[in-house]
Amino acid sequence: KEVEVKCPATVANLVCGFDILGMALQEPYDLMKLRLIDEPKVYITNKDEYDLPTEAEKNVAGVVLLAIMEKMDNKFGFEVEIEKHIKPGSGLGSSAASAAGAAVAANQLLGNIFSNDDLVQFAMFGEKLASGVKHADNITPCIMGGVTLIRSIHPLDIIQLNSPPLFVTVVHPQIEVKTSDARQILRKEVLLKDAIKQWGNIAGLVAGFEKGDTDLIGRSLEDVIIEPVRSILIPGFDEIKTRSKEAGALGGGISGSGPSIFMLSTKETTAKNVEAIMQEVFHRLGIDYKTYVTSIAKNGVEVI
Ligand code: HSE
Repeated sequence: KEVEVKCPATVANLVCGFDILGMALQEPYDLMKLRLIDEPKVYITNKDEYDLPTEAEKNVAGVVLLAIMEKMDNKFGFEVEIEKHIKPGSGLGSSAASAAGAAVAANQLLGNIFSNDDLVQFAMFGEKLASGVKHADNITPCIMGGVTLIRSIHPLDIIQLNSPPLFVTVVHPQIEVKTSDARQILRKEVLLKDAIKQWGNIAGLVAGFEKGDTDLIGRSLEDVIIEPVRSILIPGFDEIKTRSKEAGALGGGISGSGPSIFMLSTKETTAKNVEAIMQEVFHRLGIDYKTYVTSIAKNGVEVI
């Protein structure tokens, strides 16, 4: 028995919602093939250029599959073939795509015995391996699609949000920002006045998505806690944000823990103009980059 899945990139945090908000993208996406085998082992083959570990215990998809096998009393194992297109360390949920893809594909092979909450729990083992901390803001939209709110991970409480159709422009400058480092540099304490601004923005953003109010979404895409610290690691960040908004984008910010930057627009022409701004800035800075003009994916990991 074999199954192939398509695992979407995701934008975690959505600017103000650190560790609690995320959305799935149409592009880029990884491909993964999974086969059930009798032997209780995980064999991994990488079909890409990233040279990721093939030992199950050290591989994001591998640890997820091991957790599922343990839950099923190690009565079987898996062969997995991974073709990554979401570059590791891009801030576009590369590890989540591997973790969520493995969980969904295994569930499909087992006759869909697990709930979405179970799959998020399994996939979090992969995120823990990749970033040292369990967080579900990439995994959840990767599994469920659309825009998701993780109100709590202990206990897991996931809310799928509505969203108006929006275009997403992404630039991935080819510099490395490790999620673990990008978390380490954050201040552990927050001023009450900043907290008030932040929860106003989070509430506004959630209401904006639910109501399809794109102006409210735009006004709420502001982060006074995380972005001022992390954006220092990303050259060109302030210029891209200012000029994209001048060009008509609703707003945006760091994708996950960076270095990718994303901007939301209501029109495709605006999204393309934003792409041109991103290209111009990184070209001028002499930093290699990759851009995407895409949209919010309605579906999460899909069996193909
Ligand atoms: N919420 C996480 C962070 C996402 O910003 O650190 C990165 O994986």
